[in-house]
Amino acid sequence: EEVYWNDTWVRPEEAFVSVFDRSFMFGDGIYEVTPFYAGKPFMLKEHVARVKYCLQEMNIVFDTSILEDLMLEAVNRSSFSEEDAAVYLQISRGTAPRSHFIPEKVQPSLLLYAFKVDLANFENRYWKVMASEDLRWHRCDIKSTALLANTLANEAAISAGYDENLLFRNGFFTEGSHTTIFFVVEGTVYTHPEGRQILSGITRKVVLDLCQQLSIPVKEEAFPVDGLASVEEIFLTGTTTQIAPVSSVTIDGKGLFSAQKGKITTRLQEEFLRRTR
Ligand code: PDD
Repeated sequence: EEVYWNDTWVRPEEAFVSVFDRSFMFGDGIYEVTPFYAGKPFMLKEHVARVKYCLQEMNIVFDTSILEDLMLEAVNRSSFSEEDAAVYLQISRGTAPRSHFIPEKVQPSLLLYAFKVDLANFENRYWKVMASEDLRWHRCDIKSTALLANTLANEAAISAGYDENLLFRNGFFTEGSHTTIFFVVEGTVYTHPEGRQILSGITRKVVLDLCQQLSIPVKEEAFPVDGLASVEEIFLTGTTTQIAPVSSVTIDGKGLFSAQKGKITTRLQEEFLRRTR
């Protein structure tokens, strides 16, 4: 499959990045992952709006109006244009001699491509998770390519036989290494408020909207780690994760939560399927 790089479609082996690219040297870039259900984009405008927000926060000047068409084109020209897929895009600040300050006249670069992803049968995939301290920086609202703390957290989970690592800061859960966390207590859904501690998830927005539609009460409040004992359901959301029930949470080898898929998770999954299919 081809990738879009430096204003043209090329085979991946023909796409080269400079060793002085700032996303390579500093992680000085942002990215986005947008889902396509059976060839159709889901929440496309919201994904582009998040790119725009991140670029603004990073002071990168880049015209995002080209992105919608390019994402559609990436899927259309792929060999899986009618199937479930996603588009990855990354905007780097650009290439310039290495310096901590941002050089003037640096030209941003765009990498964009479609890839196949299995978005079917997410409903019954139970996630067994661990939790650990959130060691990331304090601008988690920026979808930065600098993902070292996320990848190390995820690797700690996967290598120990878990599916995800839930992160907490000062005793409160923030989010997963690549997912948003929701808790259900006495029929109320809790999720971390938007702000600098979490990525403002697009699937999170969909779920909050579904809760409103279904008259499920929501509290956008950080949930305490020591509140796990009272939790009825936990589910994780994300573009490729969709809505995933958590079957157990382990911290420092101690099992602190275990459950079957709950009623609210099931209801939300049903409505989510209706919106995406
Ligand atoms: N991850 N939180 C983090 C830290 C994430 O990386 C993601 C998404 C989410 C969920 O956001 P959304 O619902 O908009 O996908 C929350 C993407 C998919 C990734 O890194 O591949």
